[in-house]
Amino acid sequence: MRDFDEHNITAAVIERFAGTPDARLKRIMDSLVTHLHDFIRDVEPSFSEWEAAIGFLTRTGQMCDGKRQEFILLSDTLGASMLVDAINHRLPAGATETTVLGPFFVQDAPKFENGADISGGLEGELLFVEASVAAADGTMLPGAVVDVWQSDEEGFYDVQRTDLSSAALRGQFVADAQGRVYFRTIQPAAYPIPDDGPVGEMLTATNRHPWRPAHVHFMISAPGYETLVTHVFSAGDQYLDSDAVFGVKNSLIREFAHHQPGRLPDGTETGKHWRHLAYDFGLKPLAA
Ligand code: BEZ
Ligand code: FE
Repeated sequence: MRDFDEHNITAAVIERFAGTPDARLKRIMDSLVTHLHDFIRDVEPSFSEWEAAIGFLTRTGQMCDGKRQEFILLSDTLGASMLVDAINHRLPAGATETTVLGPFFVQDAPKFENGADISGGLEGELLFVEASVAAADGTMLPGAVVDVWQSDEEGFYDVQRTDLSSAALRGQFVADAQGRVYFRTIQPAAYPIPDDGPVGEMLTATNRHPWRPAHVHFMISAPGYETLVTHVFSAGDQYLDSDAVFGVKNSLIREFAHHQPGRLPDGTETGKHWRHLAYDFGLKPLAA
């Protein structure tokens, strides 16, 4: 076939994929071509706009390396990551809601015993975290592996700081016989997502801010259950309703409650003002 125009080219391109042996790939390519062509017909880009779009995607790719994943950041800031997450996490009652993983998770974080201090000596308001891990039906899950990571009081993760020689504000715990994990840390701060690349340009050009509300990340796994990737957000944070990556859910917001100096929940004493976060997590059973 020849003589393609703005009306017949979509069907012609879809026809070209007719021989795709993998039915799922064929479905994806057909939908991609349909939506891409509809987008182009809707926007009617000029050549210079199309060139700018290709340039933006090229710079997005060039910004990626082993430490920086600008395409995931683009997906996050367009709400695509949370849409994929929602479609893949239709949860039963009792299961904790999920949110984005983010770029600051590190495999093989230091292992800690319950009661440990994961602050690595960094300054900040003392925060005592207590979590329980159960199945969605309430059965406690002793032995569940709980990874935690968070920002410091200025909003930086350890991997963003050049002055630290070892991990801080991250660690891996194992839930005790009652399915509990508890540790000391410092209050995390809100922070801007990395905005020195093309995604930052897009945010600036569209009058959007790059901030995320203060949170603690959790990744929880137990045999027979879907690994839970989520955060708990600090109630009252000014960015809860405008998170740059659309990750906030009401069920994930908790008071990081203020307390006078005195006894911590693990029975130890502190002479400092302290804050308390408690959260009960529920894991979804793997499909049988
Ligand atoms: C984070 O919470 O660590 C994060 C998530 C998405 C993009 C950037 C950071
Ligand atoms: Fe984070």
